[in-house]
Amino acid sequence: MPFKSLRPKIKTILTNQQETTKQRLTEVCELLQSTIQYYDWVGFYFANHEAKTLHLEAFAGEPTDHVVIPFGKGICGQVAESNENFVVADVKAQTNYIACSLHVKAEIVIPLFKDGKNIGQIDIDSNTENPFSTEDERFLEWVNEQVATVL
Ligand code: SME
Repeated sequence: MPFKSLRPKIKTILTNQQETTKQRLTEVCELLQSTIQYYDWVGFYFANHEAKTLHLEAFAGEPTDHVVIPFGKGICGQVAESNENFVVADVKAQTNYIACSLHVKAEIVIPLFKDGKNIGQIDIDSNTENPFSTEDERFLEWVNEQVATVL
């Protein structure tokens, strides 16, 4: 797993004051998508708590139609309400799921907390079956903690 070697790179990207937050988040998505073989689409959604919607802020991979997702809808919308990691080994087994691409087989969504509040999430789609482990969860929780420090 290249997780260990990714950590300093992610810190460097996120603390680059020359770039906007959106640019930095896009670079983090690109780094993860290009380095981890089974990360085929990586994106950050952020919540509008008044409207109860999630908004795609940055991503790497194929463009998606799902740039706004209501709370409660799909894996992402469920995490906006549950505040818990959601690891989906097989998207076909999910009834509340929003398909972005026919190639996607699995998904992981990790909530992003700022000052204890669930303000967004990192969402990863994989074209590989059942690829995610607790190592991915711990790593992506760490990524979100780093992001929270620059928001
Ligand atoms: N599959 C997600 C929608 C977002 S796309 O994966 C980019 C879901 O069910 O919430």
